[in-house]
Amino acid sequence: MTLPESKDLTHFFSEETKSRKPSPLKTCIHYFGDPNIVFLAGGLPMSDYFPWDNLSADTPLPPFSRGIGAELTGAEDETSKFMVKKNSKVHSGDIPLARSLQYGRSMGQPEMIEFLKEHTKMIHDMKYSDWDIVATTGNTNAWESTLRVFCNRGDVILAEEHSFSSSLASAEAQGIITFPVPIDEHGIIPSKLADIMDNWTEGAPKPKLLYTIPTGQNPTGSSLNGERKKEIYKIAQKHDFLIIEDEPYYFLQVGPYFADKNERAQQAEQHANMSHDDFLKSLALTFLSVDTDGRVIRMDSFSKVLAPGTRLGWITGSEKLLQAYLSLHEMTIQSPSGFTQSLVSGTLNRWGQKGYIDWLIGLRHEYTAKRDHCIDSLFKYIPKDTNKDGKQIFSINPPIAGMFFTVDMDASAHPEFSTKYNSDPAQVEQAIYAKVVKSGVLVVPGVWFKTEGETTPAQPASSKQSLNPNQIFFRGTYAAVDPVQLDEGLRRLGVALREEFQLA
Ligand SMILES: Cc1ncc(COP(=O)(O)O)c(C=O)c1O
Repeated sequence: MTLPESKDLTHFFSEETKSRKPSPLKTCIHYFGDPNIVFLAGGLPMSDYFPWDNLSADTPLPPFSRGIGAELTGAEDETSKFMVKKNSKVHSGDIPLARSLQYGRSMGQPEMIEFLKEHTKMIHDMKYSDWDIVATTGNTNAWESTLRVFCNRGDVILAEEHSFSSSLASAEAQGIITFPVPIDEHGIIPSKLADIMDNWTEGAPKPKLLYTIPTGQNPTGSSLNGERKKEIYKIAQKHDFLIIEDEPYYFLQVGPYFADKNERAQQAEQHANMSHDDFLKSLALTFLSVDTDGRVIRMDSFSKVLAPGTRLGWITGSEKLLQAYLSLHEMTIQSPSGFTQSLVSGTLNRWGQKGYIDWLIGLRHEYTAKRDHCIDSLFKYIPKDTNKDGKQIFSINPPIAGMFFTVDMDASAHPEFSTKYNSDPAQVEQAIYAKVVKSGVLVVPGVWFKTEGETTPAQPASSKQSLNPNQIFFRGTYAAVDPVQLDEGLRRLGVALREEFQLA
């Protein structure tokens, strides 16, 4: 079936993007390497002077049967020992160092981009023909570029009412207003988003884009299901805004938590015996897969699935929009590091698409165990006391993806809520934070992640009503420490909360 072209949504471009002239030097870089051309046009150092003849690495070999994280033994059937050379290819997926360490190829080196395009076709059901990929130095960079490509000072964007603080800060630093969209334990509530947009104040600039972290949301740990995504997409079409899906945790989808050990064992067996096809089918529907117009920009990163220090990621979207990223990157990052591209491309192309899926399945196994262990400990240590209405003061919503858990709590159940803290949940949050740090554990208050921009003229009060104003939460991660430390940290958290709320 031939797919239609994406819509022209270039009217979203920022003033900066509209006024950017192509760098004239970049228009002739493709002649570099052409045997018929003596290239005297650019300040490219000769690769002879690059002091690296090769780059070698040992990595585990698919299907990673001893598990992700197992120490490398060097055994031939478990270890890939490979070398990327300066001037030739050992493997067709290699990026010779003479090229990767040279200027040029801002979109990313072709061997790596080809791998990522094949990967994209396996994961997403692309609905238009002219989609493409541009390499980034990770989602931090992808988001910064997104803001510059589309937004002007004073523009408005929408974001989950608690969102990744660095992303919010990045927008705010560019003078962009971040307007909050209510969320529940499953992420953005489509009907609330529809209400906000249907009642948008006349005269206030309309949001250009929705920034969302659909899977294992940072900080709340929630995950948006496919049905909600479809509803949100329709709202984006109706009100004409872009959707930016920031998905560093997409492959950390671990499935539901089972307290019952039999059910848990059943799930583990099911996961262990899953075919690649079933694994792919088990992944959440993406915004990219419902996008018929080309209004979704997806940001992927190797940070959480390979290593943050690779500083490597990619953006997927319509060519018409990605062209602006490319022009920006030619003047900012130029390209991700050549070492990284050679190393990652060398690794992934040797693993192959199937091997990479084996890696992702192995990671899921690791993160499922971490999540289960964490939630078991939370249920063991977090007090089960109830407030005056008989509801639990503290609640835990086991995440089905990502690295984060939250402990939600009713601030008004604090015995000094009105006397000492002026019935202000933020003050209770601050007091709890001080207490937990003193108790020797670090979890961070939800207020650090609050999205709180406002338009001029302002939005109606109904668009800003919090579902439960006295609800506060603390975010922690189960990714960073071993199970023993995690258990001890959560025990300390339980003690701190018990003391702070003066529970017996
Ligand atoms: C939602 C979100 N976006 C982006 C990032 C940063 O990703 P990267 O390392 O790819 O820049 C993080 C890291 O914690 C994150 O949680």
